[in-house]
Amino acid sequence: MRTSGFWLLPLFLLVSASAGAADLVGPESCKGCHPAAYTAWQLSKHARATDSLSETQKKDARCLSCHAPDQAQGVTNVSCETCHGGGQYYAPSYVMKDPELSRLVGLVDPSEKLCRTCHDASSPSLRPFNFVESLKAIDHWSAERAKKNARAEAPPPPEPAKKK
Ligand code: HEC
Ligand code: HEC
Ligand code: HEC
Ligand code: HEC
Repeated sequence: MRTSGFWLLPLFLLVSASAGAADLVGPESCKGCHPAAYTAWQLSKHARATDSLSETQKKDARCLSCHAPDQAQGVTNVSCETCHGGGQYYAPSYVMKDPELSRLVGLVDPSEKLCRTCHDASSPSLRPFNFVESLKAIDHWSAERAKKNARAEAPPPPEPAKKK
């Protein structure tokens, strides 16, 4: 059993009481460690969701609630943390390497329910939201996973030649 996260729990509860609004680090902070995911996201409509809004609409909270819900905290569009949760506590490398600890301090596994908070009947799509199809359209994990698997399956470095 992995228990590495538990010593942090009291600290997290203490900190999280005062965190809330300030726990976003922005997509540029994820980019360094997840370049493939970042590039795929940047090509998606989520990364440009405010481009669909006029200058007036960009200040309209009714539109921002789906097109840029974190704008008041300085992160615009539908960003990494809109779906994965604020990264302040899980983004450090030693936390990210521990899947349990990451989730304990805020990493979210985005669900269909989350998509539907924005992709609902009031959004202007002509077709009803299809989770499976839509998920394929925002794929930014296949490349990440291929890279991770390649790392895991790489042959060990050759033994140094033994001196006689
Ligand atoms: C310091 C490097 C680093 C930063 C910064 C970072 N990550 Fe990670 N992340 C990792 C590592 C390492 C893993 C472990 C998996 C792997 O080896 O690819 C990981 C895993 C993940 C996973 C998969 C977790 C799982 O267990 O399935 C998600 C999702 C993720 N990161 C999202 C983010 C987001 C969103 C941000 C920005 C807020 C971010 N990461 C910032 C290094 C980082
Ligand atoms: C409930 C969430 C939600 C709200 C609120 C919302 N939108 Fe959207 N909007 C969406 C979604 C989701 C899409 C993408 C629909 C699709 O193509 O599947 C979208 C797409 C759009 C598009 C592109 C339309 C197209 O045909 O490509 C425009 C323009 C737009 N919204 C304007 C607005 C404006 C203006 C407001 C505020 C008055 C607003 N939206 C409020 C969710 C929302
Ligand atoms: C619209 C919501 C959404 C946005 C925006 C988003 N993601 Fe994701 N992300 C997902 C979903 C959903 C999955 C899991 C898909 C699955 O498991 O089938 C995922 C998976 C991942 C994974 C793979 C985890 C693994 O298992 O290896 C990483 C890494 C990741 N996202 C990082 C990012 C980063 C970095 C950004 C911003 C540059 C970002 N995501 C933006 C929804 C989102
Ligand atoms: C915070 C609100 C929000 C969440 C959560 C969200 N989306 Fe979106 N999504 C949008 C908006 C807004 C657009 C339209 C952007 C634009 O064109 O202006 C959009 C566009 C899209 C598009 C492109 C549609 C097109 O017409 O090309 C796909 C695909 C999509 N979302 C899939 C997903 C999936 C899958 C999830 C869940 C993992 C998700 N979205 C979660 C707000 C959201």
